[in-house]
Amino acid sequence: MNILVIGSGGREHAICWKLRQSSKVKDLYCSPGNGGTLKEAVNVEINVKNHSEVIKFCHEKKIDLVVVGPEASLAVGITDDLEKENIKVFGPSYSASRLESSKVFAKEFMGRYNIPTAGFRIFDDFQKAEEYIKSVSMPIVVKAYGLAAGKGVIIAETAEEAISAAEDMLVKKMFGAQGQRIIVEEYLSGEEASILILTDGTNIIPLASSQDHKRINEGDKGPNTGGMGAYSPAPIVNKELFDEIMDTIVRPTMEGLKNSKIEYKGVLYFGIMVTSKGPKVLEYNVRFGDPETQVIVPRIRSDFAEVLMAAAEGDISAKKITWDDSEYVCVVLASEGYPGKYETGKVISGIKDAEKQKALIFHAGTSFSGTEIISFGGRVLNVVGKGRNIKDAIEHTYKAVKKIYFDGMQYRKDIGFRALPKKRIK
Ligand code: AMP
Ligand code: GLY
Repeated sequence: MNILVIGSGGREHAICWKLRQSSKVKDLYCSPGNGGTLKEAVNVEINVKNHSEVIKFCHEKKIDLVVVGPEASLAVGITDDLEKENIKVFGPSYSASRLESSKVFAKEFMGRYNIPTAGFRIFDDFQKAEEYIKSVSMPIVVKAYGLAAGKGVIIAETAEEAISAAEDMLVKKMFGAQGQRIIVEEYLSGEEASILILTDGTNIIPLASSQDHKRINEGDKGPNTGGMGAYSPAPIVNKELFDEIMDTIVRPTMEGLKNSKIEYKGVLYFGIMVTSKGPKVLEYNVRFGDPETQVIVPRIRSDFAEVLMAAAEGDISAKKITWDDSEYVCVVLASEGYPGKYETGKVISGIKDAEKQKALIFHAGTSFSGTEIISFGGRVLNVVGKGRNIKDAIEHTYKAVKKIYFDGMQYRKDIGFRALPKKRIK
């Protein structure tokens, strides 16, 4: 089959890398791709915001399946538009994507179907938000209602911080239309885990558990980012907790979608906080996580292209995924200044040496300048290592990280710390 992958992150590089291993895949394209995807696929410049351009490309190249990486494309209905032209798409429709693209929709959905989540209030008026914030105890969470690349969530320790976040969103319009409404949410404490499932709307194939590190600084401190690292499996998700998540969150969500007459096919990502009162949903994502995908996909033994195609066709009942038992860790190498302002164009060295350590290097913001590979974004590279246990995997990954250099390179030195037996936080 011929496949087009849409996106340009580490997630899309990992997806292309895995699809390339399938004997079923003939031509593989990635748009726009990055300095790494071009090793697995042909990078193509299509204006993916213009769906007729995507449709034209798919017809010309006889594309059998389009795999959509980022939420932004799903949120504007790329699936609906392509399917009207009989092009198969792995990724949910516009209507289903609202689980991620509108936090208000997601919260109301969870309320309707009794899916455990943090208590919340919605505001579009700054004065009312301010009054409310002053009346409740801290910490509290302020969220832009729409898509903000993982950066529209502020965990405020004080009322001043929360008010200033609400002001940034509602008055200063920092996130534009995506922040014209905000959610002020109960702070949940506990440990996070990411549960991703593949689904055709009825059948579910759970993927291996994982956990990402969203904060920029060590010890999970500082501002949220798109993700600074990840590991799989997440040891907190033992059999008992997994079953509880399936019973109280995953199945009720699928039933809720059915009752709401929303068809869902693709991957559904449940961001979970494991609290003392049980697992609760922090967020839904309607696509693969980044960087979770970089540690989940290398563990898949089965033919990835076949399962993605089955989901796009709407029937995964005959599919299974078998897993590599090794544990995987991903460390994100980012540009100085990220998640704030950063410079690009820095020459990257040592990728080949890191690969000699048998690490996988999934590119994110990279490009070429002549023969040199240069930084081209905030998150630049993902270094992925494996081991028999998390400790080995961490050591393997950081050994490879040390081989790579670019000016201003920053990374967290504690990825996976919560999974280490001694430091497990109960
Ligand atoms: P979201 O985009 O809603 O998942 O938020 C991004 C990150 O912010 C989450 O992964 C958590 O680390 C944190 N977060 C979001 N909501 C809450 C909450 N109610 N309580 C504690 N942390 C939260
Ligand atoms: N790693 C979090 C996300 O993909 O949204």
